[in-house]
Amino acid sequence: MVGGAVRPVLRYLHCMNIGGRPYRTLWDTANGIEVIDQRHLPHRFVTAELRTAEDVAVAIREMWVRGAPLIGAVAAYGLAFAIARGDDPVQAAAKLLVTRPTAVNLKWALNVVLQSARSPLEAARQIVADELERSRLIGEHGLALIRDLASRRTPVNILTHCNAGWLACIDYGTATAPIYAAHEAGIPVHVWVDETRPRNQGAALTAYELGEHGVPHTVIADNAGGHLMRQGRVDMCIVGADRVAANGDTANKIGTYLKALAAKDTGVPFHIALPTSTIDWSLPDGSEIPIEERDPDEVRFIDGLGPHGPTRVRLVPESSPALNPAFDVTPVRLITGFITERGAFANLRHNK
Ligand code: MRU
Repeated sequence: MVGGAVRPVLRYLHCMNIGGRPYRTLWDTANGIEVIDQRHLPHRFVTAELRTAEDVAVAIREMWVRGAPLIGAVAAYGLAFAIARGDDPVQAAAKLLVTRPTAVNLKWALNVVLQSARSPLEAARQIVADELERSRLIGEHGLALIRDLASRRTPVNILTHCNAGWLACIDYGTATAPIYAAHEAGIPVHVWVDETRPRNQGAALTAYELGEHGVPHTVIADNAGGHLMRQGRVDMCIVGADRVAANGDTANKIGTYLKALAAKDTGVPFHIALPTSTIDWSLPDGSEIPIEERDPDEVRFIDGLGPHGPTRVRLVPESSPALNPAFDVTPVRLITGFITERGAFANLRHNK
């Protein structure tokens, strides 16, 4: 695994921007793939080359790359690298599968590679192309919902949680895809960005990518969303998903459930944006979705930029224990609708 220089991908139409240059979250190199090492954002833009399945496992487990669709795509390459050097495909897939438990895209992508008639590398490349198209279509379908709200009031104020942006996908994002589409269509939008403790994917990543793309936004403390909804300052919520059970119960970053409760109480529409690769048809409801518990130090410490560069500080008394469930499950009754690449669907079980 080696650090790489900042390098743009080819100019693709409507790619998301960093410093005015279009990027995607991964691209092929002569020896593997290059990814954006998201641990350093928003303070430094660093890329890394992943050449082996072990590189990929570390990058997923330690969240160099994260977000359900991106985890799946990168894992697919990891499996392709393992098979190319002669590893047993099923054993290699099993090693990659345990890197993160909640996002079902990981399992889905590994199965696609294992079952594909194409070469493993071609299958991984196809997953990237398909996820890209799924995000683009989520943007198109979600745009209609934002357009409808904009006919009554602008700017349309949209609250999102965690990072379900292009950094979590290949391009465009899931929750952010309709937002970028609206921005490009000239519809005034403003995004309330939940900071998303403990790892602050909202403050660090969503704010960064919206800012780089020129989308108006404001970072809020996680606890502020309910207050803003009661004040009528949120027109809709759009969040992503890590695993959606067959009945629509949705696992997403910890704190999503509380936003859904507040949205229900205040009558704010609460939408889940997801590619169908995030649906786990094998689970009838959300009760069996595995919830990742991460290192309590992610709660006890916080990373930031100090006067001498990146720094980490302790927030809690040295002897206090902490608990760090990384996801929660929002029951389907709290969800207004699902925005997928196949269309935006109203949830008939909303409020039932
Ligand atoms: O722990 P992370 O950063 O991988 O969690 C990501 C999320 O919860 C996203 O909201 C989710 O994966 C949707 S991604 C488009």
